[in-house]
Amino acid sequence: MHFPGAHILSVNQFELADVERIFDVADSMVPFAHRERMTKVLDGAILGNMFFEPSTRTRLSFGCAFNLLGGEVRETTDVKTSSISKGESLYDTARVISGYNDIIVMRHPQGGSVAEFAKASRVPVINAGDGPNEHPSQALLDLYTIRKELGSAGKSISGMHIAMVGDLKHGRTVHSLSRLIQLYDNIHFTMISPKELCMPEEIVEELRRNGHTVIETEDMEQGLVGNDTLYLTRIQEERFNSKMEADIYRGRFRLNEAIYTRYCQPKTVIMHPLPRDSRADANELDNDLNQHPNLAIFRQTDNGVLVRMALFALSLDVCEQVHKSAREVNWYTERRF
Ligand code: CP
Repeated sequence: MHFPGAHILSVNQFELADVERIFDVADSMVPFAHRERMTKVLDGAILGNMFFEPSTRTRLSFGCAFNLLGGEVRETTDVKTSSISKGESLYDTARVISGYNDIIVMRHPQGGSVAEFAKASRVPVINAGDGPNEHPSQALLDLYTIRKELGSAGKSISGMHIAMVGDLKHGRTVHSLSRLIQLYDNIHFTMISPKELCMPEEIVEELRRNGHTVIETEDMEQGLVGNDTLYLTRIQEERFNSKMEADIYRGRFRLNEAIYTRYCQPKTVIMHPLPRDSRADANELDNDLNQHPNLAIFRQTDNGVLVRMALFALSLDVCEQVHKSAREVNWYTERRF
């Protein structure tokens, strides 16, 4: 794809070469994210960070990534404080806000809404999650993490076995990630979920049509066996009609150290897009794995900054200038990562 000026709305717009290009640029951002070098390449540029659903990681890491490239960030964090609450359309909002910013990141509770917004925007728009539909930057950082984690064990993405666990119906991260991984060859997917929360049929069919193996099961213990990567997800309570309905599934697919040690091969990478539900009745990913070397969840969040810096650099066409404009940092000497 041609990155400069492009919207990033869905993983479907990427070919394998695009993903590899994003990962190469993300790799080149490491000295900046580690505060060893600094750049002001986006000095004067403004990011509109528009979040109409709660977020910690995505909002803050997009903001941090833009700041690290020298730009300013303006935020909307709530529908209540936006004129959308007065009935303003996405079209009008996009026309207005794209006059104030050079690029916009948007999260919205309705599937397809960010694409609708982008049609009216005069600047590039990045989808930071539209309802249960897609979360492309999360899928990119997840795949970037998988590549690094498997790479350090001498393995590659092609041919890997991955288990996706939990609420696969409502989880936009697993929708985007499975579609992105299928750009590689011969992936073996195990989808572990209650039948009512299974991966949408069209995604399973697409994966199979493209030559990958997909097993669907409700048996977590059997499903855990033989994987290179586990990708756990939260029950997406906000997509259910009531908390009571979500509670039916809470705690059914739990990973703790004892289960991991018993069923998983020793090097299996443990991932989760976060937030994990740490309430006592959920325990989807127990704290007793927090010090486990294969737990990659906080390496995922660190990698999110690199991947989001890469998306900004590509979209605003400053990849070369980032390095030409770089200077050494002399105020911070210790590595923070
Ligand atoms: N993974 C993710 O999207 O986290 P946030 O909801 O905190 O942004």
